[in-house]
Amino acid sequence: MSKVTSAEELFKHELQDMYYAEKALTKTLPQLAQETTDSELKRAFQSHLKETEKHVSNLEKVFKQMGEPAKAQPCPGIEGIKKEHDEFVEENGQRGEVLDAFLTGAAARAEHYEIAGYTGLVSKARALGERDAVELLQQNLKQEKEALKKVETISKRILKEASNGNGSTSSRSTSSSR
Ligand SMILES: [Fe+2]
Ligand SMILES: [Fe+2]
Repeated sequence: MSKVTSAEELFKHELQDMYYAEKALTKTLPQLAQETTDSELKRAFQSHLKETEKHVSNLEKVFKQMGEPAKAQPCPGIEGIKKEHDEFVEENGQRGEVLDAFLTGAAARAEHYEIAGYTGLVSKARALGERDAVELLQQNLKQEKEALKKVETISKRILKEASNGNGSTSSRSTSSSR
């Protein structure tokens, strides 16, 4: 990629980075939904997948408004979060509340990453006077914040269950196996 020398180029660079991250997450979220045996967490991953698909299309609209082709720039940040997840699951992949608690943390890391990304993008779009882009990016940012809140609430409940040792409550399915 050519050197980034202006605020507008920096905005486009970060847009490409986020586009990569969102597309990667459309592949990761179904995997997370598979890995959990907690039905509420599974539903949260599935519904955030739908939102994530919309994030991808909102970013495509922003590219279009900028007169740019939608291009993904490999994003080591989101790859790192994914890698951390993959290694943990490979080493400790026993299904159950400990894995579920881990998955809520992995999801929260991704949401924090996206929130930081979109917060920066919104500021840059605003500074550049790209009002439609501000609107679209804010829609994504709002959903990331809501997704983070939801996963944090679920995390608290799972940790409580894990600490009380009653992992066989109603929201847990026992039928899945690996
Ligand atoms: Fe997203
Ligand atoms: Fe997200």
